[in-house]
Amino acid sequence: MQLEYQGKSALIIASSQGLGKAIAKKLAEQGVNVMISSRDEEKLKQVKNELERTAKGKIQYKACDIKNKEDIKLLVETTVSELGSIDLLVNNAGGPPAGTFEEMTDDDWQHSFELNLLSYIRITREVLPYMKKNGGKIVNIASSSVKEPIPGLILSNTFRTGIVGLTKTLATEFAPYHILINTVAPGRIATDRVAFLDEKAAEKQGVSRDVIEEKIKNAIPLGRYGEPEEFANYVAFLLSDANSYMTGQTLLIDGGLIKSI
Ligand SMILES: NC(=O)c1ccc[n+]([C@@H]2O[C@H](COP(=O)([O-])OP(=O)(O)OC[C@H]3O[C@@H](n4cnc5c(N)ncnc54)[C@H](OP(=O)(O)O)[C@@H]3O)[C@@H](O)[C@H]2O)c1
Repeated sequence: MQLEYQGKSALIIASSQGLGKAIAKKLAEQGVNVMISSRDEEKLKQVKNELERTAKGKIQYKACDIKNKEDIKLLVETTVSELGSIDLLVNNAGGPPAGTFEEMTDDDWQHSFELNLLSYIRITREVLPYMKKNGGKIVNIASSSVKEPIPGLILSNTFRTGIVGLTKTLATEFAPYHILINTVAPGRIATDRVAFLDEKAAEKQGVSRDVIEEKIKNAIPLGRYGEPEEFANYVAFLLSDANSYMTGQTLLIDGGLIKSI
């Protein structure tokens, strides 16, 4: 199936590496005009150059700390002035600190609330007025923790389920404007974040990272971690014209890791 986007413009949050970058690359290759963003301007400049090698659409970048409300407003305004509109939005963020309930302080909770949930709310609030004019699509990146809490990731387990509730509610409220909103829930996609989590688990258990990886791969029916490019394919579909009737859903992209129905 050929995915169509008809000259659309996309804002991809937290896209200097990992899942966000893979999505930006995939969309740009399909001719979508893309705004990439994260906190590190130098890194964004490099990623823009890299993506431009295969892009058919325009690539712009703007640094933004998504914990900062004013930064978000400026990012959305800049995207609209540089790309003309925002038809597609991917909400994404850095991962929250790892740890159990007893290890987390109020500061950790506040940080993760602002980074992993409030940022999605604020970005969506800024973007919706533009999408209400011509319709649009939003994909919110969460985690497989929304289906099965992950031991030692209390902050993810708590705030990502908020993303699911937000997505489902907004999907209903904004369907009359032809805005389709879905959540994607990655299991184990090979990025720096996952390498960091495996390293942490290895330290805690006093074993090597290879041992941890092997254990996790054994729990994944497809027997391996996913690649960011594979993950990006599903998001690209959700954002494409081909997705015309699915909204409010949570899609696990996990190689079969989560066993619940
Ligand atoms: N990979 C997986 O399998 C997996 C599984 C479950 C959940 N997730 C979640 O999905 C999200 C993306 O995962 P990933 O693996 O791509 O993570 P990653 O490789 O760590 O990338 C995180 C991105 O977020 C940006 N970022 C961090 N803090 C930011 C802030 N305050 N403002 C703006 N940008 C910020 C980072 O850039 P700067 O540091 O330069 O700002 C980077 O571009 C994370 O929340 C992760 O926990 C991933």
